[in-house]
Amino acid sequence: MMNRNSAFRILLADHNCRTRRELARFLVHRNHDVDCASTGYQATRALRKRDYDLILSDINLPQLSFFDLAAHLETEGLETDVVVIANLLDLDRAVSAMHEGAADFLLRPHDLKKVAYTVERIRELKDRRADDARRLQIRREAQMQEETTLALARAAEERDRMNIGHGRRVASYAVEIGRGLCFTEARLERLAFAGKLHDIGKIGIDDAILNKPGRLNDEEYAVMKRHSEIGEYILKPVSAFRDIAPIIRHHHERFDGAGYPDGLAGDEIPLDARILCLCDFFDAITSKRPYREPASLEQALEIIAEEKGAFFDPLVSEVFIKMHHPRRAVVAI
Ligand SMILES: [Fe+2]
Ligand SMILES: [Fe+2]
Repeated sequence: MMNRNSAFRILLADHNCRTRRELARFLVHRNHDVDCASTGYQATRALRKRDYDLILSDINLPQLSFFDLAAHLETEGLETDVVVIANLLDLDRAVSAMHEGAADFLLRPHDLKKVAYTVERIRELKDRRADDARRLQIRREAQMQEETTLALARAAEERDRMNIGHGRRVASYAVEIGRGLCFTEARLERLAFAGKLHDIGKIGIDDAILNKPGRLNDEEYAVMKRHSEIGEYILKPVSAFRDIAPIIRHHHERFDGAGYPDGLAGDEIPLDARILCLCDFFDAITSKRPYREPASLEQALEIIAEEKGAFFDPLVSEVFIKMHHPRRAVVAI
């Protein structure tokens, strides 16, 4: 947002030397940045050199009527507000200029209070428009991130048929923990995206290993372990996912340093990755596999309690255990 104390760049185009002098002095005194032009030629030349926030333009400017000025701005793709300056006798033309897009008009002789009020009003309108545009941009970016996440998660699920819904469930558990740790809404949103995409790297793992019905041998497990690095590699070039990429890379690190890919320990592991690590384990162990039955909630919580400080972050484990005694509904993502 524009700093309200910053100078407003104004082009003052008026053929009357006295008007230019008086208005320019008044506006500069109010900390505005003012350039002057006495003809249409000078005004268009100034507009090619600089961007202005506002043009104060004499309706009888030689070589450039308001309508020529409006056409010039449109051709150049400029959205600069124009306030016309007119004599009382030209009131009809000033009103026509308003119909054609002028932001306002000022009548001679100038009431300086009215000039100050008009400039401030235009500045506020411009700030509001900039804020609206920024909000729209943020909404569009959030929507694009959501849609891209969905598309990537679907691509991963198409490859990893045994784990359909795993990403969404991990995201739900992670958001529960994040709420327990008083994360901000923005951080919870990032955690949800990371949860949904944490195994995206499995796209790069060979089908024979990814969908093997039995347990993996050491060699196959070594290949499977590469999915966290591949996930980081896939997401890193996308600016919207750049801060998620390290969480994905480290979601299989263990609190005691015995995890992968970098063997980080304790606080070296991003907190969001420590959260995903526990949620990933919980969902995996409570899900059915061709080679084993799912663990019950109580069994899973018991393992988490035993592994507190070894496999899992102690604080994250405590929050999760507390939240699941008694079992609560998983939050909707
Ligand atoms: Fe994983
Ligand atoms: Fe996983």
